[in-house]
Amino acid sequence: MPARRPQRIFLTGFSFSGKSLVAPLVAQALRWRAVDLDDLIEEAAGRPVPQIFADEGEPGFRRREREALREVCREKGVVVATGGGVVLAEENRRAMGEGGFVVCLEARPETIWRRLQQPGGRPKSERPLLQGGDPLGRIRWLKGLRQPLYALADGAVHTDELSPEEVAAEVVRAWRRYGAASSRDGGRLTGIAVGQTPRAVEEGTAGVACWVTTETARYPVYVGWGILAQLGERMRAAGQAGTAYVISDSNVHRHYGKGVEGELRVAGFATDSHVVPAGETSKDLTIASELYDWLAARWAERGHAVVALGGGMVGDLAGFVAATYLRGMPVVQVPTSLLAMVDAAIGGKVAVNHREGKNLIGAFHQPRLVLADVAALKTLPKRELTSGWAEVIKHALIMDGDLLDALENDAERLLKLDPDATVPVVSRAMALKAQVVSEDERETTGRRTILNYGHTVGHGLETASRYEALLHGEAVALGMIAAAVVGCRLGVTPPALADRQDALLRRFGLPARVRGVDPEDVLRAIALDKKTSDGSVRWVLLEDVGQPVLRADVPLALVRQVIEEMLEP
Ligand SMILES: NC(=O)c1ccc[n+]([C@@H]2O[C@H](COP(=O)([O-])OP(=O)(O)OC[C@H]3O[C@@H](n4cnc5c(N)ncnc54)[C@H](O)[C@@H]3O)[C@@H](O)[C@H]2O)c1
Repeated sequence: MPARRPQRIFLTGFSFSGKSLVAPLVAQALRWRAVDLDDLIEEAAGRPVPQIFADEGEPGFRRREREALREVCREKGVVVATGGGVVLAEENRRAMGEGGFVVCLEARPETIWRRLQQPGGRPKSERPLLQGGDPLGRIRWLKGLRQPLYALADGAVHTDELSPEEVAAEVVRAWRRYGAASSRDGGRLTGIAVGQTPRAVEEGTAGVACWVTTETARYPVYVGWGILAQLGERMRAAGQAGTAYVISDSNVHRHYGKGVEGELRVAGFATDSHVVPAGETSKDLTIASELYDWLAARWAERGHAVVALGGGMVGDLAGFVAATYLRGMPVVQVPTSLLAMVDAAIGGKVAVNHREGKNLIGAFHQPRLVLADVAALKTLPKRELTSGWAEVIKHALIMDGDLLDALENDAERLLKLDPDATVPVVSRAMALKAQVVSEDERETTGRRTILNYGHTVGHGLETASRYEALLHGEAVALGMIAAAVVGCRLGVTPPALADRQDALLRRFGLPARVRGVDPEDVLRAIALDKKTSDGSVRWVLLEDVGQPVLRADVPLALVRQVIEEMLEP
């Protein structure tokens, strides 16, 4: 006996692909009943969808969606307009596939965005789309993430240039032609299209820029333009739930605090925030203690996450508090300065300062995930941004000739923070740091030591100027210049490489000379530096791009001479 055509049609696809408009037209043509899944959910809950989101978060909504779908799957002769996210759950895909014919209505992101702006254009169950900046970017991202699941449908209709009537006619045609064949395999929608596992799509691990894999942890690093809005979804994908304790500083919170808290709530988190004064002085035990009081007053639980939203200061402070409170809470690093993105946020070193020294009290505490929204650099003060470029240049010099070329070739666009140029460069620099940390989590094999290129004199200068005159990246830039001169004089570093490095540092606005420091103070600080082993100072020098070497035989007299040459009168 030939197989019968399924007696249910499900319209899937992204919001504003026209499912709710087309379902009644298909139903009319077949003399069936049209059902809008969101309407069923609202009826059952006695509340509109946005209210369900507000009361129960997205998880609550998705649970109700599954129940409504199960309900409608008992009916025959129905055309169901589903919500854009219904395909995410394997259970839903199976329910639709068993005894149903599934057609995906496709639309380009630009079409979706145009339709969304039209009067009345408010998708009920895609609220995150409407919040925060860059809605078109968000549509592209979310649609891209779900596309492999939409692609499992029995048929697809591209709606961009069609009227609802034309789309309905296509759906009916597809059902008549392919319906009987589709019903033979009820589980066909639980498989997955090319490349990605359904789990990766559901969990949002598609789109990870790189992974950090250490002996103690494995976590994703997300990098992009305008991706702060994804934070909640990414945290959920990493298994976080409950309350997110956002720690930020006064500058960063002013720009991004409310937005991030809103996104987290949309993703189903309760949120609470603590804002510390901006500046390195907040990175101390007094402020850490205030943060413990804050967490204790809220009965923070071990499974709940601390979200470090800010530059390296916030990352280190919040990371330290997360590492120690309740013997360790999960921390999510959301770096907003260039330095924090390419350095501090990745690798799990967290600390506060002590009057006897910077970062003296600390721990290793790897984050659950790192999410860097490169667009946040637009509000970073210029000098801080310039300082951050020094670390990117350092990563390129010690590890990646291609990145060095990109920095040289695209300098103009990078200095303007052109997204197309900047995102790949920041992403690459973060991946390099992730790679080193993955190889040497606790600086035991020596691999992580190469990151100290420029740091010997750099730290010496920072200490000698009591961390007042120079930003960290500025000190590192000066330290790299010093290391290159030392390397040249020892015959390790080719002079052409030193020139290339210095020209690039200049191009990015970094200083080549320093004033107001006593060379003897710098030398003393270098000798006391924690990179000292067996009384000798271990220098990272460059033999070539991507070829750092460790040298413990740099004569003190040479170091003194090089520092003196860098001083401005
Ligand atoms: N853990 C590590 O591995 C590691 C590595 C390097 C540096 N660090 C630490 O990082 C800290 C330095 O980091 P930093 O340079 O980011 O300093 P920072 O966190 O103090 O940020 C610099 C300034 O920029 C502001 N800011 C940050 N992001 C902003 C944004 N998007 N818009 C507007 N203002 C913004 C901050 O409020 C601050 O005033 C130091 O404490 C250093 O010890 C840690």
